[in-house]
Amino acid sequence: MFYKIVTYGCQMNVHESEKIAGLLEQCGYSPLPSEDIAPDIIVFNTCCIRDNAERRALGNIGVVKAEKKRNPALILAVCGCMTQQDGAKDVIKQRYPYVDIVLGTRNISRLPEEIGKVLASRAAAKKSDKRYRAFDTEYLSDYLNVDENTPVFRTSYPNAWVNIIYGCNNFCSYCIVPYVRGREVSRSVDDVLDEVKSCVDEGYGETTLLGQNVNSYGNDIADRDVNFAALLRKIDALDGKFRVRFMTSHPKDLNEEIADAMAQSNKICKNIHLPVQAGSDKVLRDMNRRYTREHYLGLIDMLRSKMPDIGITTDIMVGFPTETEEDFRDTVDLVEKVGYSNAFTFVYSPRKGTPAAAMPQIPYEIKKRRIGEIIKLQNSVTKRLSENYIGGVYEVLVEDVAPKHAGMVCGRTDSGRLVTFPGSSDDVGKFVDVRITESRSASLFGFAEDKPFDKQNG
Ligand code: SAH
Ligand code: SF4
Ligand code: F3S
Repeated sequence: MFYKIVTYGCQMNVHESEKIAGLLEQCGYSPLPSEDIAPDIIVFNTCCIRDNAERRALGNIGVVKAEKKRNPALILAVCGCMTQQDGAKDVIKQRYPYVDIVLGTRNISRLPEEIGKVLASRAAAKKSDKRYRAFDTEYLSDYLNVDENTPVFRTSYPNAWVNIIYGCNNFCSYCIVPYVRGREVSRSVDDVLDEVKSCVDEGYGETTLLGQNVNSYGNDIADRDVNFAALLRKIDALDGKFRVRFMTSHPKDLNEEIADAMAQSNKICKNIHLPVQAGSDKVLRDMNRRYTREHYLGLIDMLRSKMPDIGITTDIMVGFPTETEEDFRDTVDLVEKVGYSNAFTFVYSPRKGTPAAAMPQIPYEIKKRRIGEIIKLQNSVTKRLSENYIGGVYEVLVEDVAPKHAGMVCGRTDSGRLVTFPGSSDDVGKFVDVRITESRSASLFGFAEDKPFDKQNG
């Protein structure tokens, strides 16, 4: 029996798909070995952050109709953020009658039970309209207890994703996440430490701590000593050779204690993803981000004063309803000032039920021009910053064989920059000192310090 999981959205979903895989393995399914073989179960792990993410998922669920006709025994499940939107469950129920199971963001641990019920009802009922369909998107109060027992089938060696906090309390006015993932719930310090330790023991060279806002870790735990800075220090004190990254940091909650914990550590990467969204105070206020441009720029200075080589990345959104041309210029100016090593850029997409969706919207042509301009600017900044790496030696954790370059592998520096250099699949998971000899926009190229002959051979 084979499973196929189709994942949309952020790292949180990528990791949740690893839990879904763990549960399916427990039920006796194995990963689909080839696309030529028909799966016995397909799980769509959906995202609804922007309209296009949602449309893609719905389109692909539609495509499965034909597959289900060919193979009526196929089980089809839909999980993830989309299922948790107002009314989404009913839309799926009516428009996609061949979907067997719908589980919300806090119910995936129920998957084995629901698969069992679907199979039992199929065996019992000859008529297809009598068969059992599961629709459960209620938030379970004991979610975390259940979740701690969910097996994880990791798929991103040598990086291990580790959740530290679920949900979001921030309600940025454009964002659907708080509505589909509920309020913040932190995992216990011991559970996080145990998971990191076991990943290190299994040979994972890197752990990425996940949360919509990792900086508010511990706010919902009564013990006042539990906070993100303290957690970083405890993880740093664990034995073994490994690295730690985390995402995402909200600028309103990033403080000096967290920066000090990073700066004074050996294992926490000097790398931070600090989404700014916009450079204008008015737009930031309308977005309900709860920081100013000045505060944000102050954070950048604070981080760089403690960690001069820190790699800083961001998310930028253009076309928010109240963004004027002048506001957009403020974003352009901020991007020029900060010098991000990379930026994820998005066109604002109205999400039903969020405050910003009810505001008058900006024409698409204007959004399109603004996103084009910001991407072009960031590309030139990235290219300029890449050149600073040439000549230096950086420790790289090898992640994979390079997809586009035969005989090469790729991995990241501590600061999060992607490096490609000669190597083989045997190197995956190893730390290698690499001398950077060339840069091409965001990518760096070089040679392992202890293999100088590769330079002539390669
Ligand atoms: N919790 C993280 C990331 C949330 S989603 C944070 O607070 O930064 C990732 C990114 O998607 C956001 O940073 C934002 O830039 C973008 N995004 C969120 N809602 C969006 C919307 N309605 N339209 C376009 N982009 C959006
Ligand atoms: Fe969305 Fe804001 Fe929460 Fe991030 S912090 S998930 S952007 S509401
Ligand atoms: Fe998408 Fe949900 Fe992540 S809406 S971006 S998968 S939190």
